[in-house]
Amino acid sequence: MRCSATLLQRLSAGMARPGLPGPPACAGFPVAATDTPALLLDLTALERNCARIKAALEPFPHVALRPHAKAHKSSAVAAMTLELTGARGVCCQKLCEAEAMVDGGINDILLSNEIVSQSKIERLCQLTARPGVKLAVLVDDAGNVSDLAREAARANIQLEVLVEVDVGQNRCGVAPGPATAALASAIVSHSPALRFGGLQCYHGLTQHIRSVAERRAAILGPVLAATKASIAACEAAGVWSPDLRVTGGGTGTFIFEAETGVFNEVQAGSFVLMDTDYTDNDAEDQVKFEPVLHCLATVMSRPLPERAVLDAGTKALDLGCGPPRVVGTKPGTATYRSGGDEHGIIDLSGAAVESDMFKVGSVVWVQPSHCDPTVNLHDWFVLHRDGIVQDCVPIEARGPGR
Ligand SMILES: Cc1ncc(COP(=O)(O)O)c(C=O)c1O
Repeated sequence: MRCSATLLQRLSAGMARPGLPGPPACAGFPVAATDTPALLLDLTALERNCARIKAALEPFPHVALRPHAKAHKSSAVAAMTLELTGARGVCCQKLCEAEAMVDGGINDILLSNEIVSQSKIERLCQLTARPGVKLAVLVDDAGNVSDLAREAARANIQLEVLVEVDVGQNRCGVAPGPATAALASAIVSHSPALRFGGLQCYHGLTQHIRSVAERRAAILGPVLAATKASIAACEAAGVWSPDLRVTGGGTGTFIFEAETGVFNEVQAGSFVLMDTDYTDNDAEDQVKFEPVLHCLATVMSRPLPERAVLDAGTKALDLGCGPPRVVGTKPGTATYRSGGDEHGIIDLSGAAVESDMFKVGSVVWVQPSHCDPTVNLHDWFVLHRDGIVQDCVPIEARGPGR
């Protein structure tokens, strides 16, 4: 299925958004004419990844996909993923992401994170009060439950609140079992200002376990045990009902959460863009996603035959998960290393590489190692198909994440 033309037209309205630097490319021009460094988004590959996740979840009709928007931070990309997967809503990690989604017409949001400061709780209530908005948020603290209830009552709204359970990541979340039930009961006690919406049982550290068998074992073992113990404790406390949400899973594990029969929502997000950290996961018989996101860079210097210098340094590419992959080269023949903020060095000493590919002025495609923080460095996605720019859409929610 292709993105509809009407959707693309609606998305280009984003180009008129005030305050953003202009887009780096023009619709109808070859991708190679894009001003660099720029983020490219391959529409055909995105459509195939959306079709893949939709097909993978078809055997699990009780499991809803809620694609996470934290990777792309763009309401336009969110709209495409919803249209192509049939999902009803998205996850966001930050309040500013949720605000950008609502401004862009995406109204059904799970804020998969805690919102604690007074000013943010007020913004959360204002957002929830907007017409048509269906928003839920996480808690892991009884004081935060009271704060949310007070502000929701003041704003005359009802907030849907899920308990975040620490299923092994040791990040946010309450302990599985009785502590989870105690917090769920606190939410219920604040009805009608708050409504208990269920449990988030997400384990981020399992997503990049390379082996399929070990990834599956991590979810079907400890994560599932902690989730079941938490549901059982909520049942014992009289606050559970089968229509409540049990949500979690990312691109690396969503299929295992779906298999459990206990999770009824999965939050995979990176599948829309993909990065080398995910393409390096073993897939075996699993659903395999393809790269959608690339950074286009220009060779700005070729001081030596074995060294080419790109105009994409750490201002354009996050290197926290390793170097990006240079597209169109064999492994080990053209490796990227940081040349600083504005320079990326391609080491060509590994083999005789087509030197034409790295002539001064040539453009080079690299696949980022981690999509979320790389996208966070850019203002625009350049959407392309068959080598031609189709549109540019803004990354409205980029930034430190307020
Ligand atoms: C709470 C939560 N849910 C879902 C995701 C999406 O995971 P991914 O982008 O790996 O698919 C993340 C990613 O960090 C997350 O923190």
